[in-house]
Amino acid sequence: MILNSAFRYVDGWLHVDAISLETIASEVDSPVYVYSLRRVLENYRRLQHKFTPVSARLHYSVKANGNSEILRALARQGSGFDCVSGGEIQLVLAAGGAARQIVFAGVGKTRAEINYAVERGVGWLNVENALELDYIQAAAERTGTETVHVALRLNPQVTANTHPKIATGHGGAKFGLTADVIRDLLAKRASYPRIHFAGIHIHIGSQLGDSQATLSALDKALEIAGSFPQIHTINIGGGLPVAYRYTVSLPPLGDLVAAIASRLRGYHVLLEPGRAIVADAGVLLAEVLYVKRQAGQVFYIVDAGMNDLLRPALYDAHHEVLPLRQAAVRGEVAQVVGPVCESSDVLARDRCLPPLQVGERVALMTTGAYGRSMASAYNARPLPGEVVVSEDGAGWRKCR
Ligand code: LLP
Repeated sequence: MILNSAFRYVDGWLHVDAISLETIASEVDSPVYVYSLRRVLENYRRLQHKFTPVSARLHYSVKANGNSEILRALARQGSGFDCVSGGEIQLVLAAGGAARQIVFAGVGKTRAEINYAVERGVGWLNVENALELDYIQAAAERTGTETVHVALRLNPQVTANTHPKIATGHGGAKFGLTADVIRDLLAKRASYPRIHFAGIHIHIGSQLGDSQATLSALDKALEIAGSFPQIHTINIGGGLPVAYRYTVSLPPLGDLVAAIASRLRGYHVLLEPGRAIVADAGVLLAEVLYVKRQAGQVFYIVDAGMNDLLRPALYDAHHEVLPLRQAAVRGEVAQVVGPVCESSDVLARDRCLPPLQVGERVALMTTGAYGRSMASAYNARPLPGEVVVSEDGAGWRKCR
């Protein structure tokens, strides 16, 4: 059974590339995230290829997964990076990424972070507050930086078809600047002699269900760009979805690319995908600690909790649960829960699972994005470990 090019059952055991996940699990502490570098790079190249009609430059969104091996591999591949903190910029630089290839975004950048970004020569700053421009101008003067490239982030006032907690483009959201403010700032651009207002940035949400809102946001961005010829770059953000359920397939990306291409002729295009590059390259391995049959329910209490993987508790997110040892029996409906002292610590609700034994291991699939990067030490639990499988798919090592 093949799940994607990196994960499959071989001889009854779930493998990542050429390696049995049971082998990895038996040699490291549980729970642990495992990533296939090969799959990360394959996703990166696939997106790059798909977006060839717009010659898009990809800036991997580090917030999805800041693992240093992943960043290093993407930097070697020539990827740019989307960072939202001084910490993420540091991670990218330490992994060999070029400052010029970083876009620095964020609705609440501190002045220290802005200074750091300008000092380091970060390629683009995506601006969401007028005051940031004063800080950037001052930092450029202090450091003798001739020109800082800025993209103004538009709040296009469109509602994305996604979970409300990860939608960012509607009028009531804290993100971006309204079209009026952007026009005003562009009209006043001479007050910021060291800033080149060369781009408009949009990002209307993550795990986008369709492309309608994206295209309408894009049209609003182009309406502004059309009146200001110095704007040569449109950054269309991230948000490309992944298939979390094996029974659901995604709308073809080609349609979106074609629609974007017909609009963006003549512009440089930047893209900030996070999830689409790393989500299906990672799994979280956990071990069954207890099996509890109670009040008509079956609970598999595993050693990974909401502190290790927050998505189900925060967004009711669905992650497939697969036993590492393939089972022929279909089993019964069960709840996969963690050890954290909260009723929301449910990793998978009402799943039909084969009977699992204490000590048996399961994989929470498609957890390479926003898994480890959102983990916390809640309940004074140690952060989960990470294992990276090498690009040739044959070797692995602990990494973090
Ligand atoms: N660019 C900007 C400005 C963003 O805010 C984000 C994500 C991205 C790019 C990357 O989006 P992606 O391609 O990964 O969808 N924790 C949530 C997702 C939050 C996304 C925040 N911003 C989750 O686990 O679903």
